[in-house]
Amino acid sequence: MKTVPMTETVYEYLVQHQTPLHPVLPELIAITRQRPDAGMQIAEDQGVFMNQLVRLIGARRILEIGCFTGYSTICMGLGLPEGGEIISCDIDPETTGIARQYLKAAGLEKKSQILLGPAVDTMQKLLTNRGKNSFDLIFIDADKENYGSYYEIGLELLRPNGVILADNVLWSGRIIDPADNTPSTEALRRFNAVVRKDSRVEASMLSLADGLYMIRKKG
Ligand SMILES: C[S@@+](CC[C@H](N)C(=O)[O-])C[C@H]1O[C@@H](n2cnc3c(N)ncnc32)[C@H](O)[C@@H]1O
Repeated sequence: MKTVPMTETVYEYLVQHQTPLHPVLPELIAITRQRPDAGMQIAEDQGVFMNQLVRLIGARRILEIGCFTGYSTICMGLGLPEGGEIISCDIDPETTGIARQYLKAAGLEKKSQILLGPAVDTMQKLLTNRGKNSFDLIFIDADKENYGSYYEIGLELLRPNGVILADNVLWSGRIIDPADNTPSTEALRRFNAVVRKDSRVEASMLSLADGLYMIRKKG
């Protein structure tokens, strides 16, 4: 096994050696950190990685499941080219109000759209209105019990060679704890097993932050 044990000092070094964040993001991180549910935000370095990935695959149309206060939305949105768009789904008008404010401050008002409502319903509507193969990148980061549905509908919405990113797949290590049988943990186990066996995709599981599945729909 070849890994570097992560300490606060190593993490600080890592973050300092990445391209600096857009100026609005440190403020958004600080504001989100004051909330009791701050742990929902993806890690700072994960956002930088996802911004790079958007650019690397030339994504123009991104769908996000789980907006929260908008950190991941902004990181991905800032990687879009002119004419690109990011649609983010959530059920919470309060946190997405913060996201809207910071999307605007990041200059992403025109490229972004937040759709409120249960994401399964929103995705079904997108399938009807936009059709299959209409997104280049889909980021799944909402309620774990629905990951299986987000994945199946997402695969239809995703173009061949497009990428699904699924967050929290290592679940703070609880994914391998036999004593943990909570619905979220069980749902993540089922989801990981489905992806592993799915011949429609190729997948790598990154030990980035809480575990990030990077899943390419075969061409
Ligand atoms: C982990 S947070 C997303 C974090 C975000 N990606 C970020 O980096 O800041 C999960 C979000 O999913 C939303 N959510 C939970 N259940 C949902 C559902 N059924 N449909 C849509 N969004 C949902 C929650 O309101 C919450 O904002």
